Amino acid sequence: MAPGWWTEAVIYQIYPRSFADSDSDGIGDLPGITARLGHLAELGVDAVWLSPFYPSPQADAGYDVADYRDVDPLFGSLADADRLIAEARAKGLKVIVDLVPNHTSSAHRWFRAAVAAAPGSPERGRYIFRDGLGPDGAEPPNDWQSVFGGPAWTRLVEPDGRPGQWYLHLFDTAQPDLNWDNPEIRAEFLDVLRFWLDRGVDGFRVDVAHGLIKQADLANWEEPQEILSGNEADKPRPPMWDQDGVHEVYREWRRVLDSYDGDRILVAEAWVEPAERIARYVRPDEMHQAFNFEYLLAAWTAPTQYAVITRSLEATDAVGAPTTWVLSNHDVIRHASRLGLSAQGGRPNGIGIGDPQPDAALGLRRGRAATLLMLALPGSAYLYQGEELGLPEHTTLPDESRQDPTWERSGHTQRGRDGCRVPIPWEADAPSYGFGPTDASWLPQPPLWAEYALDRQRGVAGSTYETYRTALRLRREHALGRGTLEWLSSGDEVLSFRNGGLTVLTNFGTAAVPPPAGELLHSSAPLDADGRVPTDVTVWVRHS
Ligand code: NOJ
Repeated sequence: MAPGWWTEAVIYQIYPRSFADSDSDGIGDLPGITARLGHLAELGVDAVWLSPFYPSPQADAGYDVADYRDVDPLFGSLADADRLIAEARAKGLKVIVDLVPNHTSSAHRWFRAAVAAAPGSPERGRYIFRDGLGPDGAEPPNDWQSVFGGPAWTRLVEPDGRPGQWYLHLFDTAQPDLNWDNPEIRAEFLDVLRFWLDRGVDGFRVDVAHGLIKQADLANWEEPQEILSGNEADKPRPPMWDQDGVHEVYREWRRVLDSYDGDRILVAEAWVEPAERIARYVRPDEMHQAFNFEYLLAAWTAPTQYAVITRSLEATDAVGAPTTWVLSNHDVIRHASRLGLSAQGGRPNGIGIGDPQPDAALGLRRGRAATLLMLALPGSAYLYQGEELGLPEHTTLPDESRQDPTWERSGHTQRGRDGCRVPIPWEADAPSYGFGPTDASWLPQPPLWAEYALDRQRGVAGSTYETYRTALRLRREHALGRGTLEWLSSGDEVLSFRNGGLTVLTNFGTAAVPPPAGELLHSSAPLDADGRVPTDVTVWVRHS
């Protein structure tokens, strides 16, 4: 049987509120996306993944879902979703939607019913409610912290007006965690999967896939809260992440997907390490892919990149799954800025006015080199909207415009993720740079967006957009996604490998190096006057 499309696919993440706005409310929407699908076909990706567009109070930009079977009027209607799926299919693009099973919105009818019901009721049994500690229950049930900062528990006021039980929320207060030990929750999500599969989606990106099951005793966890589970061999596993029970859930989901025609996929968003632990999510009867966050977080040095690439390939090979690669998404600093930070491999949670600023030119240069390195690797790759324009993080966003709950919940110590979520520029001279018909934009766009606009780059040789396009075309022509990697050089300065007919070289050192022998097919920046590969440049060569 031919390997599934997803084993080598390039999947483009659309963050709906920031992609294209059709109705001038300053928030992107589904008709806006449908109107711009031609861009993605031209770019040459295989699939799109849409971040959540479901009814939601938007306490966490839609990752707080109030109804899993509808579309928020902010983004359009179910009919708009159907049209988007059909138009994408007509253009040869697969569609993956986001599924958020770890928590609902506090506006979900289930949570409203739980708040109105008594302790111990079936309604409360859908979430994780506990009595507080201390004589009057005024202390939270354990010491867990929320990923966004502050305690992971909030105390309810009971219907009779007295302070009552506490509920768990690993994220915002408005995102109560579901109780996955309850069969009703399991049944509900099987039905939600079917709802979207019946509408024709090609798969699901599963939010916080490593969080659904909590250790039964809800034991205290004194380590700082990190979404990345930190499961290195010598560290204890946090009681809220990567519990073995999650795998049973995905085996059941897999059976549902397999009962449908086509080749539908599950993708785990699981901040789990090391690579062998994440590989457990993509065993043959579970999910198809898992994001490779270890790769995303790796510092820009030859030894680090070599180590993470090698480890990633080994871990997924061991379970027969494709490796995935990703450099940017809606939760991290865009790689065109991250790679321009002086401290490599760190993970600042947002950058703002007064913070150390990245070197923009260095970041873009490295960002393009990193992208060409990534797109030459076997497996499947994820792109985040705007990276094909070389879009940087907005690193001087005024704090008063910030919307990520992290900013408030961390007591203004973590700026959060707004800087990578700013609406993207399409036309340099249009209102909101072509994001929508007017200047409305839910986060302010910086003036430098004009130089990154698609219309300034399209057809311009050497632009970031054309560099991505060429890379995607060559990747397809040379079947790099289904190739095999053979290292040629893995020193401190240069990484070089073969994948099929191509030799790929990235120069991490300080001096220019000769390119590999053969015909130069592509490079992330021009070679120097002597025909050598400068620092922070990747080349693709057809070897002789
Ligand atoms: C991961 C999502 O990518 C992020 O944006 C969200 O805040 C959390 N999960 C909670 O749903």
